[in-house]
Amino acid sequence: MKKIRASAPGKLMLFGEHAVVYGRPCLVTAVDKRISVSVSGILGDIVWVDAPDVGIKNYQCRISDLGKSEDVPKGVRFIERALINFFEKYGVKKGLRIETKSDFSSKFGFGSSSAVTVALLAAVTELFSIKISKKELFDLAYKTVLDVQGVGSGFDLAAAIWGGTLYFKKGGKKIEPILVKEWPLVVGYTGIKADTAILVGEVAKLYTSHKEVVENIFDDMEKIVNQAKREVEMDGYNSLGELMNINQGLLDAIGVNTFELNNLIIAARESGAWGAKLSGAGGGDCMICLVANNKRLAVEKAITGKGGTVLKVKTNALGVKIE
Ligand code: MEV
Repeated sequence: MKKIRASAPGKLMLFGEHAVVYGRPCLVTAVDKRISVSVSGILGDIVWVDAPDVGIKNYQCRISDLGKSEDVPKGVRFIERALINFFEKYGVKKGLRIETKSDFSSKFGFGSSSAVTVALLAAVTELFSIKISKKELFDLAYKTVLDVQGVGSGFDLAAAIWGGTLYFKKGGKKIEPILVKEWPLVVGYTGIKADTAILVGEVAKLYTSHKEVVENIFDDMEKIVNQAKREVEMDGYNSLGELMNINQGLLDAIGVNTFELNNLIIAARESGAWGAKLSGAGGGDCMICLVANNKRLAVEKAITGKGGTVLKVKTNALGVKIE
């Protein structure tokens, strides 16, 4: 029986995290670390999942029971919900064997759940010979993410689908590719896994108690994103670095910075980076910095010296593709 394999890239948030949840734009880039999902039809009404990278082996569920158990690993929750949404939208149903394989650990905050969701939906639409536009794929994947975790702007799904670097607004209200060669980035991992939904919830509490102040911070983040979009089109890395530093100050102001992130960020700046900030929800995970080629080694050494792990990634990667 036909076996289809699709792969989708992870992402790095460049500017505008959190504010994007409140309708402001952000800049995101796809990275060359990918997740692939293979799907084949099988007889019967069982969905089998093997996802060895997240410790799932021989997971089985009846199609009629998809989404019913609370007690399933996070990776499987996205797969089950994506299938429910796909079967409902296209009025098809079939037993499936699904295998996933990842180039990166789900702990890095590169968006593994989103990449799995996108690659799976691309693979099943291909398997059933259904023509689907990128925006339709985005809408189906975004519904899946909201069904599972309740919050999120969908920026990571857009990166997984379109690839490259995008200027993005919540729910796909704007998805605009930005022309840029390769971001001269160094990525440092703090070693601490963070939970996006919890951090978004904490920012929501702050928003409720200090709405006017936090709205102003989000407005400033929007200005940073718009300015960064102009600078990147002119290769203005020095200025982009400064914008990263300002964005970081504002992220600190809304309470998502941590001691460990800060250590890596300061080390990167002091060893010659143009600028540095956390990337994503904060609370741990990764920081990014913009670095000239001749400073890269010194910055990487400074990050490692502070206990961080340098993750080698290339930006502007290709979006979802059938392999
Ligand atoms: C998390 O990586 C980025 C947030 O803006 C959440 C989202 O946009 O979905 C905090």
